[in-house]
Amino acid sequence: MKSTYSEPHMRRRKTHPLIWFAAIICTIIAIAVIVVGIVVFIGYLVLHPRVPVMSVMDAHLDLFQYDLAGLLETQITIILNMKNGNQRAHASFSDTSLILSFDGVEIAKLVALPFDVSKNSSLNFHYVVQSNPIPLDPNLQELVDVSLKKDDVKFGLKGSSRARWRVGPLGSVKFWCHLDCQLRFHILNGSYVPSSRCSSKAK
Ligand SMILES: *[C@@H]1O[C@H](CO)[C@@H](O)[C@H](O)[C@H]1NC(C)=O
Ligand SMILES: *[C@@H]1O[C@H](CO)[C@@H](O)[C@H](O)[C@H]1NC(C)=O
Repeated sequence: MKSTYSEPHMRRRKTHPLIWFAAIICTIIAIAVIVVGIVVFIGYLVLHPRVPVMSVMDAHLDLFQYDLAGLLETQITIILNMKNGNQRAHASFSDTSLILSFDGVEIAKLVALPFDVSKNSSLNFHYVVQSNPIPLDPNLQELVDVSLKKDDVKFGLKGSSRARWRVGPLGSVKFWCHLDCQLRFHILNGSYVPSSRCSSKAK
Protein backbone atom coordinates (compact mmCIF):
# COMPACT_ATOMS: atom_id res chain seq x y z
CA MET A 1 0.00 0.00 0.00
CA LYS A 2 1.27 3.28 -0.96
CA SER A 3 0.82 5.97 1.54
CA THR A 4 -0.26 9.26 0.13
CA TYR A 5 0.89 11.35 2.94
CA SER A 6 1.85 14.71 1.77
CA GLU A 7 4.33 16.78 3.48
CA PRO A 8 2.67 19.60 5.43
CA HIS A 9 3.57 23.08 4.47
CA MET A 10 6.14 24.15 6.90
CA ARG A 11 6.56 27.51 5.34
CA ARG A 12 4.22 29.75 7.25
CA ARG A 13 2.88 32.59 5.24
CA LYS A 14 3.05 35.76 7.20
CA THR A 15 -0.26 37.57 7.21
CA HIS A 16 0.20 40.99 5.81
CA PRO A 17 -0.44 43.70 8.45
CA LEU A 18 -2.89 45.34 6.08
CA ILE A 19 -5.04 42.19 6.11
CA TRP A 20 -5.08 42.26 9.89
CA PHE A 21 -6.01 45.88 9.79
CA ALA A 22 -8.83 45.23 7.35
CA ALA A 23 -10.09 42.32 9.47
CA ILE A 24 -10.15 44.45 12.59
CA ILE A 25 -11.94 47.28 10.82
CA CYS A 26 -14.52 44.83 9.45
CA THR A 27 -15.09 43.39 12.91
CA ILE A 28 -15.55 46.84 14.41
CA ILE A 29 -17.99 47.82 11.67
CA ALA A 30 -19.95 44.59 12.11
CA ILE A 31 -20.21 45.11 15.87
CA ALA A 32 -21.21 48.75 15.38
CA VAL A 33 -23.94 47.75 12.93
CA ILE A 34 -25.28 45.18 15.40
CA VAL A 35 -25.22 47.65 18.30
CA VAL A 36 -26.94 50.38 16.27
CA GLY A 37 -29.49 47.81 15.11
CA ILE A 38 -30.26 46.74 18.66
CA VAL A 39 -30.55 50.35 19.88
CA VAL A 40 -32.85 51.32 17.01
CA PHE A 41 -34.90 48.17 17.51
CA ILE A 42 -35.34 48.84 21.23
CA GLY A 43 -36.14 52.48 20.49
CA TYR A 44 -38.71 51.31 17.98
CA LEU A 45 -40.27 48.86 20.45
CA VAL A 46 -40.48 51.59 23.08
CA LEU A 47 -41.88 54.20 20.73
CA HIS A 48 -43.88 52.13 18.29
CA PRO A 49 -47.08 51.92 20.32
CA ARG A 50 -47.15 55.71 20.12
CA VAL A 51 -46.86 56.14 16.39
CA PRO A 52 -48.32 59.39 15.12
CA VAL A 53 -51.90 59.14 13.95
CA MET A 54 -53.61 61.08 11.22
CA SER A 55 -57.37 61.07 11.38
CA VAL A 56 -60.47 62.95 10.36
CA MET A 57 -61.66 64.65 13.49
CA ASP A 58 -64.76 66.18 12.00
CA ALA A 59 -66.23 67.17 8.69
CA HIS A 60 -69.22 68.95 7.30
CA LEU A 61 -70.96 68.95 3.95
CA ASP A 62 -71.49 72.64 3.30
CA LEU A 63 -72.90 72.40 -0.18
CA PHE A 64 -74.14 69.61 -2.42
CA GLN A 65 -76.26 70.63 -5.35
CA TYR A 66 -76.50 70.34 -9.06
CA ASP A 67 -77.88 72.76 -11.55
CA LEU A 68 -79.97 72.26 -14.67
CA ALA A 69 -76.87 71.98 -16.81
CA GLY A 70 -75.96 68.85 -14.85
CA LEU A 71 -73.01 70.33 -13.01
CA LEU A 72 -72.50 69.22 -9.44
CA GLU A 73 -71.15 71.71 -6.98
CA THR A 74 -69.99 70.77 -3.57
CA GLN A 75 -68.09 72.17 -0.64
CA ILE A 76 -66.80 70.17 2.27
CA THR A 77 -65.09 71.22 5.47
CA ILE A 78 -62.63 68.68 6.80
CA ILE A 79 -60.78 68.90 10.09
CA LEU A 80 -57.73 66.71 9.97
CA ASN A 81 -56.09 65.84 13.25
CA MET A 82 -52.41 64.98 13.48
CA LYS A 83 -51.65 63.41 16.80
CA ASN A 84 -48.30 62.68 18.35
CA GLY A 85 -48.98 60.58 21.44
CA ASN A 86 -45.29 60.16 22.05
CA GLN A 87 -44.23 61.70 25.33
CA ARG A 88 -40.52 61.73 24.59
CA ALA A 89 -40.08 62.89 21.04
CA HIS A 90 -41.68 65.46 18.87
CA ALA A 91 -42.71 64.41 15.42
CA SER A 92 -42.14 66.06 12.07
CA PHE A 93 -44.63 65.50 9.31
CA SER A 94 -43.96 65.97 5.64
CA ASP A 95 -45.38 64.97 2.27
CA THR A 96 -48.89 65.32 3.60
CA SER A 97 -51.24 64.83 0.72
CA LEU A 98 -54.81 63.56 0.49
CA ILE A 99 -57.17 63.22 -2.42
CA LEU A 100 -60.87 63.82 -1.99
CA SER A 101 -62.97 62.10 -4.61
CA PHE A 102 -66.55 61.48 -5.55
CA ASP A 103 -67.25 58.17 -7.23
CA GLY A 104 -63.64 57.99 -8.32
CA VAL A 105 -63.62 61.54 -9.70
CA GLU A 106 -60.96 63.61 -8.01
CA ILE A 107 -62.48 66.69 -6.44
CA ALA A 108 -59.58 68.20 -4.61
CA LYS A 109 -56.16 67.63 -3.20
CA LEU A 110 -55.46 68.46 0.42
CA VAL A 111 -51.87 69.23 1.19
CA ALA A 112 -49.86 70.63 4.08
CA LEU A 113 -46.38 72.05 4.22
CA PRO A 114 -43.99 70.19 6.53
CA PHE A 115 -44.79 70.84 10.17
CA ASP A 116 -43.89 69.68 13.66
CA VAL A 117 -46.11 68.34 16.41
CA SER A 118 -44.53 68.57 19.83
CA LYS A 119 -44.49 65.78 22.41
CA ASN A 120 -47.81 64.44 23.54
CA SER A 121 -49.92 66.87 21.58
CA SER A 122 -51.83 67.25 18.38
CA LEU A 123 -52.54 69.72 15.65
CA ASN A 124 -55.71 70.33 13.67
CA PHE A 125 -55.83 71.30 10.04
CA HIS A 126 -58.91 72.98 8.82
CA TYR A 127 -59.66 72.46 5.14
CA VAL A 128 -62.50 74.04 3.26
CA VAL A 129 -62.64 72.15 0.01
CA GLN A 130 -64.64 73.63 -2.80
CA SER A 131 -64.97 71.51 -5.89
CA ASN A 132 -64.89 72.79 -9.41
CA PRO A 133 -68.27 72.06 -10.98
CA ILE A 134 -68.31 68.34 -11.74
CA PRO A 135 -70.04 67.40 -14.99
CA LEU A 136 -72.45 64.56 -14.31
CA ASP A 137 -72.63 61.75 -16.80
CA PRO A 138 -75.79 59.58 -16.59
CA ASN A 139 -74.17 57.15 -14.14
CA LEU A 140 -73.03 59.90 -11.84
CA GLN A 141 -76.38 61.63 -12.18
CA GLU A 142 -78.08 58.48 -10.98
CA LEU A 143 -75.70 58.15 -8.05
CA VAL A 144 -76.42 61.75 -7.06
CA ASP A 145 -80.17 61.17 -7.32
CA VAL A 146 -80.00 58.05 -5.17
CA SER A 147 -77.82 59.85 -2.65
CA LEU A 148 -80.26 62.74 -2.43
CA LYS A 149 -83.16 60.36 -1.99
CA LYS A 150 -81.39 58.43 0.76
CA ASP A 151 -80.03 61.61 2.33
CA ASP A 152 -76.69 59.86 2.40
CA VAL A 153 -73.63 60.60 0.32
CA LYS A 154 -70.13 59.18 0.39
CA PHE A 155 -66.86 60.73 -0.66
CA GLY A 156 -63.52 59.00 -0.84
CA LEU A 157 -60.55 60.29 1.08
CA LYS A 158 -57.20 58.75 0.46
CA GLY A 159 -53.65 59.80 1.09
CA SER A 160 -50.74 59.77 3.44
CA SER A 161 -48.29 61.75 5.46
CA ARG A 162 -44.76 60.90 6.38
CA ALA A 163 -43.93 61.18 10.04
CA ARG A 164 -40.43 61.19 11.41
CA TRP A 165 -39.21 61.33 14.93
CA ARG A 166 -35.83 61.24 16.53
CA VAL A 167 -34.63 58.32 18.58
CA GLY A 168 -31.89 59.74 20.75
CA PRO A 169 -28.88 61.11 18.93
CA LEU A 170 -28.62 58.06 16.71
CA GLY A 171 -31.17 58.73 14.11
CA SER A 172 -34.80 58.88 13.39
CA VAL A 173 -37.67 56.55 12.75
CA LYS A 174 -39.75 57.18 9.68
CA PHE A 175 -43.31 56.10 9.43
CA TRP A 176 -46.05 56.52 6.86
CA CYS A 177 -49.54 57.37 8.07
CA HIS A 178 -52.01 56.09 5.51
CA LEU A 179 -55.63 57.03 5.25
CA ASP A 180 -58.14 55.40 2.93
CA CYS A 181 -61.74 55.78 3.93
CA GLN A 182 -65.14 57.11 3.04
CA LEU A 183 -66.56 60.34 4.34
CA ARG A 184 -70.29 59.92 4.80
CA PHE A 185 -72.68 62.79 5.17
CA HIS A 186 -76.36 63.42 5.64
CA ILE A 187 -77.10 65.78 2.79
CA LEU A 188 -80.00 67.66 4.35
CA ASN A 189 -78.20 68.93 7.43
CA GLY A 190 -74.67 68.33 6.16
CA SER A 191 -73.66 66.40 9.25
CA TYR A 192 -70.77 63.98 9.10
CA VAL A 193 -71.25 60.33 9.99
CA PRO A 194 -68.08 59.54 11.95
CA SER A 195 -66.15 56.47 10.96
CA SER A 196 -63.35 54.85 12.88
CA ARG A 197 -61.82 53.88 9.56
CA CYS A 198 -60.95 57.51 8.87
CA SER A 199 -57.83 57.17 10.97
CA SER A 200 -54.40 55.90 10.05
CA LYS A 201 -54.60 53.79 13.22
CA ALA A 202 -57.41 51.66 11.82
CA LYS A 203 -56.13 48.46 10.27
C1 LIG B 1 -50.12 63.91 27.78
O1 LIG B 1 -51.36 64.49 27.47
C2 LIG B 1 -52.44 64.01 28.26
C3 LIG B 1 -53.74 64.60 27.73
O2 LIG B 1 -53.52 65.83 27.11
C4 LIG B 1 -52.18 64.34 29.71
O3 LIG B 1 -53.24 63.84 30.51
C5 LIG B 1 -50.88 63.71 30.15
O4 LIG B 1 -50.58 64.07 31.48
C6 LIG B 1 -49.76 64.18 29.24
N1 LIG B 1 -48.54 63.47 29.59
C7 LIG B 1 -47.35 64.09 29.71
C8 LIG B 1 -46.20 63.24 30.10
O5 LIG B 1 -47.23 65.29 29.51
C1 LIG C 1 -78.79 65.18 10.59
O1 LIG C 1 -79.75 64.33 10.03
C2 LIG C 1 -79.61 62.95 10.37
C3 LIG C 1 -80.63 62.14 9.61
O2 LIG C 1 -81.81 62.84 9.41
C4 LIG C 1 -79.74 62.80 11.88
O3 LIG C 1 -79.56 61.43 12.23
C5 LIG C 1 -78.68 63.64 12.54
O4 LIG C 1 -78.79 63.55 13.94
C6 LIG C 1 -78.78 65.08 12.10
N1 LIG C 1 -77.69 65.83 12.66
C7 LIG C 1 -77.81 67.03 13.18
C8 LIG C 1 -76.59 67.68 13.71
O5 LIG C 1 -78.89 67.61 13.23
